[in-house]
Amino acid sequence: MIPDSFIQELVNRIDIVDLIDKSVPLKKAGANYMACCPFHQEKSPSFTVSPSKQFYHCFGCGAHGTAIGFLMEYLGLSFIEAVQELAKQVGMVVPQQTRDAQQVAEQKAVSMGLLDVLQKANEFYRMQLKQSPAAIEYLKNRGLTGQIAARFQIGYAPQGWQNLQTVFKQYDAEVLDTAGLVVSNEQGKRYDRFRHRIMFPIHDQKGQVVGFGGRIINPEDSPKYYNSPETPVFQKGHELYGLFLARRAIRDAGKVLVVEGYMDVVALAQYGIDYAVAALGTATTPFHISKLLRHTDHIIFCFDGDNAGRSAAWRAAMNALPALTDGLRLSFLFLPAEHDPDSYVREHGKPAFEQMMQQAMPLSQYLLQTLTQDNALTAQEDKVKFLKQVEPILQQIRAGKFRLLLEKSVADMVGLTVPALREHIRPAARSQESNKAPQKLQRKAFSLARRMLLILLQFPELAKAEDLTVLQRDEPEQGLLALAIETALQFPQSNAGSLLMHMQSAMSESISSALHHDVALTDKNPDMTQEYLAGMENLRRGHQEKSREELLKKPLSALTEEEKAILKKR
Ligand code: UTP
Ligand code: MN
Repeated sequence: MIPDSFIQELVNRIDIVDLIDKSVPLKKAGANYMACCPFHQEKSPSFTVSPSKQFYHCFGCGAHGTAIGFLMEYLGLSFIEAVQELAKQVGMVVPQQTRDAQQVAEQKAVSMGLLDVLQKANEFYRMQLKQSPAAIEYLKNRGLTGQIAARFQIGYAPQGWQNLQTVFKQYDAEVLDTAGLVVSNEQGKRYDRFRHRIMFPIHDQKGQVVGFGGRIINPEDSPKYYNSPETPVFQKGHELYGLFLARRAIRDAGKVLVVEGYMDVVALAQYGIDYAVAALGTATTPFHISKLLRHTDHIIFCFDGDNAGRSAAWRAAMNALPALTDGLRLSFLFLPAEHDPDSYVREHGKPAFEQMMQQAMPLSQYLLQTLTQDNALTAQEDKVKFLKQVEPILQQIRAGKFRLLLEKSVADMVGLTVPALREHIRPAARSQESNKAPQKLQRKAFSLARRMLLILLQFPELAKAEDLTVLQRDEPEQGLLALAIETALQFPQSNAGSLLMHMQSAMSESISSALHHDVALTDKNPDMTQEYLAGMENLRRGHQEKSREELLKKPLSALTEEEKAILKKR
């Protein structure tokens, strides 16, 4: 929706070094700037930011991107949000390129109104909490201090049917329905959705209130928790309760604890474990997992010890499989049956809780243990059953080393060798991602086309349309070079970072990552232009040679005049 030209202009105006330095203090090192990578844990710096290429790249974990990419990764923003944030910083206004500007404007007004309305309601509920001794009493009884309640912006929706009328003069405005704050019955009577409930506001990545969870105070009421419905700004499968507040602590702790309930998150924070988040009464989705992976590479799932907890754990594990990488740690923690994290930390305190976390089960162990808990693997039939259950699991795992070790364990358990196992369990349609080459800092000898590509990215003015005809697209490196030439022609005012950004959608993640890696290692020098031109000449000759050979195979009568001319040359 946002025109490419705008994005280009925006990226040109931002200095990525300044931008990143605000969040991750950088040190100058030669032509680049360096720091310890904010995207993985490390002791010596392998995160580089290049002022001339205008991109960042981590030699440790492969994280890479432009200023926009950095904001997306670091703050967990969407592309559009990151563009808007950067535009704000340089005082540009994001244009909307659309067929129906009217419709978009309306949609925008509605969703902006939504956020305002939710924010206002949140303030109202918080005020009400201060005035409700019963609600305060309830929270105190659950061990919460005023400080923690304030931190989580906990509020109270009072008894009565239309309290929100005091904040929203237009109580019949449709936006209140859309926001999920007001509901209408069949007679058309309107009333507040949340009544006599403790209110937990749910914040998005930017700290805006996008929904609420409301807990009963009176044990006779039901349901125990009532949540906002899905709205244009709130999707349950996308948000995680507490993530906005926890992001800092997650980074510091190097891990995130995923629990089941609102109260678990709040109580853990009360006891000093402030890196917990909760899914909103749904299973952990793949979306949740990839969202968390932007903040840390260690996820600990903590589930109640009951049956519901066990099945939620299994679903979380299955949802995590496709997102696994070798750098990622997933662990599973099961509490004693009578406990949830809230009650456990209250009874045993932070050290005991953290102690228990150390004993969380690694994913591989959890998978194998669960699959064999009712299967002794003695009879051949047992082993067959086990292999059948393992097959779809293995096939979803793209993390090469993790899968290999799991294959090894499985093979041992049924008395096969890994090659024999692989004969029977076809590895998943192996995508290029699965064989991610290890990121090494060494200089390699590049192929001609690769080397040209690396040069072109730093000298986009070398791109010429006619060169496209000599490139062989079905050769991977030449195909990439052709893509780079096209991109450079389209965006002549580019730097390496923004060219790579525009190319991103046409490359797989692993190819993109490897390319950033190579570009980061290639320093600009004035001889490069000559090298590129010579290289192109070389490719052109190769192309002509090939065409000649092709033509020579044809009968003379089938040749066009043009083709005959080519053959006569030389
Ligand atoms: P729990 O019942 O385990 O919640 O449900 P809890 O946080 O431990 O509740 P307390 O300690 O009794 O206050 C876990 C989560 O499931 C969702 C909520 O998100 C809750 O935090 N849930 C539960 C609902 O959405 N509706 C319900 O009626 C119950
Ligand atoms: Mn609880």
